[in-house]
Amino acid sequence: MCAFLKGEPSVRVSVVGLGYVGLVTSACLAEQGHDVVGIEVSAARIEALLDGRMPFHEPGLAELVEANREVGRLTFTADPAAIGQADVVFVAVGTHDGNGGWQTRTIQSCLNDIVPRLADDAALVVRSTLPPWFLAHLPIIVGRMRQEAGLGEVPVLLNPEFTKEGTAVQDFLEPERVVLGIAHDVDGRGAAKLRRLYRGMSAPILEMSATDAALSKLGANLFLATKISFANELAQLCDQYGGNVDQVVGAMAYDHRIGGAFLRAGIGFGGSCLPHQVTMTVATAAESGLPTPLFAAVAEVNLRQRERMIDRLAELLGGSVAGARIALLGVTFKPDTDDLRDAPSIHIATRLIEEGATVVAFDPMTNALEHFAALVPGVRVASSVDVALDDADAAALVTEWGIFRQLDWVDAASRMRRAIMVDGRNALSVVELVDAGFAYASFGRGIRGQTEVALTAPLPTAVEADLTGEPAAYEMPAVDMTATESSPTERYRSGTSGRDLALTD
Ligand code: UDX
Repeated sequence: MCAFLKGEPSVRVSVVGLGYVGLVTSACLAEQGHDVVGIEVSAARIEALLDGRMPFHEPGLAELVEANREVGRLTFTADPAAIGQADVVFVAVGTHDGNGGWQTRTIQSCLNDIVPRLADDAALVVRSTLPPWFLAHLPIIVGRMRQEAGLGEVPVLLNPEFTKEGTAVQDFLEPERVVLGIAHDVDGRGAAKLRRLYRGMSAPILEMSATDAALSKLGANLFLATKISFANELAQLCDQYGGNVDQVVGAMAYDHRIGGAFLRAGIGFGGSCLPHQVTMTVATAAESGLPTPLFAAVAEVNLRQRERMIDRLAELLGGSVAGARIALLGVTFKPDTDDLRDAPSIHIATRLIEEGATVVAFDPMTNALEHFAALVPGVRVASSVDVALDDADAAALVTEWGIFRQLDWVDAASRMRRAIMVDGRNALSVVELVDAGFAYASFGRGIRGQTEVALTAPLPTAVEADLTGEPAAYEMPAVDMTATESSPTERYRSGTSGRDLALTD
């Protein structure tokens, strides 16, 4: 038996929906010693899983699936009858409409299938991210379905996931918190089952209402997105005043109230979660008359970054990308995944082609590259990074895969027609690229290398006027020399330092 369970009996679990969330949940719960049946309507996906093929790339997942299938703790089926044997049934089906909006059709039809099959003492746990307005309906829908089937009520809970693609297995097995949201659990047996399921975890288990659980997931994603857009706006200030965003953020990160994570400037956030949750929050709140200007700005800054990548390339290419051959390094929305959902690469490549550039893309995930070619008409794909770089007028780093960060830049420069690099992820070393002969631009770290420009920008009008106009009379602040020595705090309070620091207790 798995060390996680410390000799206690395992929980019988069914997970309905074997996408990113469901498959990671299934494999990780099995790894923790529970008996898991993964259920999926797509016959092709079940066939692939039974054949040992993963439907997507997630580091460590294939190994976990294989090991747990071997010991019999993890099985896959298309037959929903397996639900009847489970103590806990997770629902992990999609809620995106594929067009930036929400849809609840899938979860409603899934509930139709599974609710009448739940054992009387089972708990229903939704792990899909739900639209906030659906939360209040969920226990009512489930209650009605049970009643219509002549069955007793079951507990209904939410258990949002906080896993990141690329590190999902580790995030699941070593979570920072486990959130349990109670939608309907009169006698507390649903929460008790989930606590039993997660007893191997050392993370705090936070029990709250279903609404608070959903909003705590939403809040985390909105905050992470806000941090990234903040860093991108800050990077603009750095470029404007000749600063270096790495130094600035590095210094800010020493303040534990701020921290350094998710402050990397570049072409902004993509993926299935952050962009969708920001735009849907703004849209859904607006529908109920609630303005959310901060989140609207987060979305706007994020989209602007993708356009700024085009501007940077045009700037280094002498004003326009038209006619240039551009090597697009990376297409997935982040490294260690083959996911292209809302990947900035799609917008960037499409716009470059519209502007008359030839785009030659390479990504280590060949399936993602094929999918990318289908999504971006006119894009060319290369069989290797070298082929992408051959004769390119510029390279654009879009995904900071390790193989790109470790490139031999002298060799890369020699392959290209013009050694120009725009680093959309601030992932490369400025010094290394400039030493290799590149004209190099990133975000908040200036433009360096061949085209480095001297500081010839005109002085702002106000400074010019101050330098050329009559010097203003400088007055010493009046100091009462007869006053007795006061403590620094008192001086601030009384304002005798000559400045009003507006300090309060
Ligand atoms: C996110 C949340 O992090 C996770 O908690 C939630 O469960 C699902 O959504 P994910 O979408 O997998 O995870 O990726 P994440 O690591 O959050 O990155 C999102 C995007 O932000 C990527 O495109 C990444 O490149 C970008 N990013 C991240 C930045 O631009 N700058 C940063 O500093 C960090």
